[in-house]
Amino acid sequence: MLFAVNKALYMEKIKAIGILTSGGDAPGMNAAIRAVTRSAIFEGLKVFGIYRGYEGLIAGDIKELTTESVSNTIQRGGTFLKTARSKDFMTPEGRRKAVDNLHKFGIDALIVIGGNGSLTGARDLAREYDIPCIGLPGTIDNDLYGTDSTIGYDTALNTIVECVDKIRDTATSHDRIFFIEVMGRDAGFLAQNSAIAAGAEAAIIPEDQTLFDQLDQFIKRGFRKSKNSSIVLVSESPKDGGAMHYAERMRKEHPEYDVRVTILGHLQRGGTPSAYDRILASRLGVAAIEALKEGQRNVMMGVVNDRVVYVPFSRAIKQDKPINPELINVLNVLSI
Ligand code: F6P
Repeated sequence: MLFAVNKALYMEKIKAIGILTSGGDAPGMNAAIRAVTRSAIFEGLKVFGIYRGYEGLIAGDIKELTTESVSNTIQRGGTFLKTARSKDFMTPEGRRKAVDNLHKFGIDALIVIGGNGSLTGARDLAREYDIPCIGLPGTIDNDLYGTDSTIGYDTALNTIVECVDKIRDTATSHDRIFFIEVMGRDAGFLAQNSAIAAGAEAAIIPEDQTLFDQLDQFIKRGFRKSKNSSIVLVSESPKDGGAMHYAERMRKEHPEYDVRVTILGHLQRGGTPSAYDRILASRLGVAAIEALKEGQRNVMMGVVNDRVVYVPFSRAIKQDKPINPELINVLNVLSI
């Protein structure tokens, strides 16, 4: 009972929330904005849309959102609030300006939809100022700890698989080996799972920390014994140069093979969100307002085993999210 009273008092203090999207856009961000907006209005709160992420917060690019502002958005890719990677917000002066604007607009709590960098910004803001912040995992990379999936990951995965299927047609026709580079920053979820789903012969990912060279392994597995063409998914990685690097090595070490490279690039971030991402975004958006009601702050919302969970920012961004080794085994077994 006491808890219930405290909850009510806490919510009383919050009259208006701000919402922003930050970092790389991800399909399903609009669905998340919609869910947060409608659920907050349902609870009697005012909602302010902050445009261009933290850049817009610093500049005061803020407008009130209504239920109608988010009509017809659930099916749209990108983010109608726009997004940015803000260098200014990384400085104490930038965060000071941002907080001044929160006060100016009467915003008592902030909902941030984004990836690692965006939630790090929210954590820093919440540490320095008494502003409740709730994060929603919005990134195609799926690299946030404490949630089975991030908003945008499923759509990007499906986009990649569709592209790989097309590349397979030409690879087979020409008996070629294709190295296809996909996004993910330092995480290999997109590469590993798209390789399984597209029936690729190998995936080269940063998480595979065995002592064996991943290209050598692929060759040793005898990739040409039964097949005349091969697809290798390569995770973009600033450390080893990505698909170009492996293609160059292949050309040098095995000049007998016809090698091509495709870098899928930003098309992976676009497109209409999958049903899975829309539902995930809707659930997490509603849960974010529930979390505020419960007096939660400085947590990211996640879904684990189909249940909504709260993860402290520091864990969500700092802890490496492991790739299930079973997935590596599945690809190895099925690509013989
Ligand atoms: O974090 C999402 C992501 O798409 C990464 O996979 C990629 O490394 C990065 O953003 C690309 O960022 P930008 O669009 O700023 O080039």
